[in-house]
Amino acid sequence: MSTRTTIESFFDPATWTVSYVVSDNATGCAAVIDPVLDFDFKSGRTGTRSADAIAAYVQAQGLSVQWILETHAHADHLSGARHLQQRLGGKVAIGERIREVQATFKKLYNLEREFLPDGSQFDHLFKDGETFRIGEVEATALLVPGHTPADMAYRVDDAVFVGDTLFMPDVGTARADFPGGDAHTLYRSIRRLLALPAATRMFVCHDYPPKGREAAWETTVAEQRAKNLHVHDGVSEDEFVALRQARDATLEVPTLILPSIQVNVRAGRLPPPDDNGVAYLRIPLNAL
Ligand SMILES: [Fe+2]
Repeated sequence: MSTRTTIESFFDPATWTVSYVVSDNATGCAAVIDPVLDFDFKSGRTGTRSADAIAAYVQAQGLSVQWILETHAHADHLSGARHLQQRLGGKVAIGERIREVQATFKKLYNLEREFLPDGSQFDHLFKDGETFRIGEVEATALLVPGHTPADMAYRVDDAVFVGDTLFMPDVGTARADFPGGDAHTLYRSIRRLLALPAATRMFVCHDYPPKGREAAWETTVAEQRAKNLHVHDGVSEDEFVALRQARDATLEVPTLILPSIQVNVRAGRLPPPDDNGVAYLRIPLNAL
């Protein structure tokens, strides 16, 4: 395990999401990855308990946030990126192919004309292979599409944050049936991640633990190659695609997909308020 960086995880049991803070031990510079904005669909209330726990950690450790990284436009939780940016600073960043996702969902939600699907809602858009720094530690953004067209993984030091590509070995992989998703593409992205050095520590964005196991989110490339239920070494692309598509056909639409995506394509901002000062989410009927 590296002594150059410290990784702290934050598990949100309401959405099974894991957010991370990765910091450079030498400088105290940090990146926050995939923060959650709490949302109670029944009452339409957002909350900042999850994001504030991250902020409390950052402040207690005296860290300076340079980046707030999104792996993709999540369909199961609202992003806490803007709330955390207001509290801690840092640039909110995502992969440049978010523009495709924005265009798809601008149409679905019939968003206001001023909403441009050009990625300008984010402070930075990563290209595949782009390097950046967290303090003195070099990091690399890797395009890993398939779950959505815009998914990124972030490699930092001896670790990689894989978003919704792979889950823990006994859970398998993320679904590939969202708009713009593709199981063939997901397989190739996963093989790219599994080609990283075997000892690379791998941090997943969700855990849905089988009965009898506690939630967990850290594994390694070697462990995934040996044991991943869906894509261990030896599983061919065609085998994976058949399995993934059969499984996706049985999955329900995530509870928060409609609220989540319309906030997350805005980089975690709520929609602009109506003339009464209240912001509204849109629910397209019979359109998804
Ligand atoms: Fe996702």
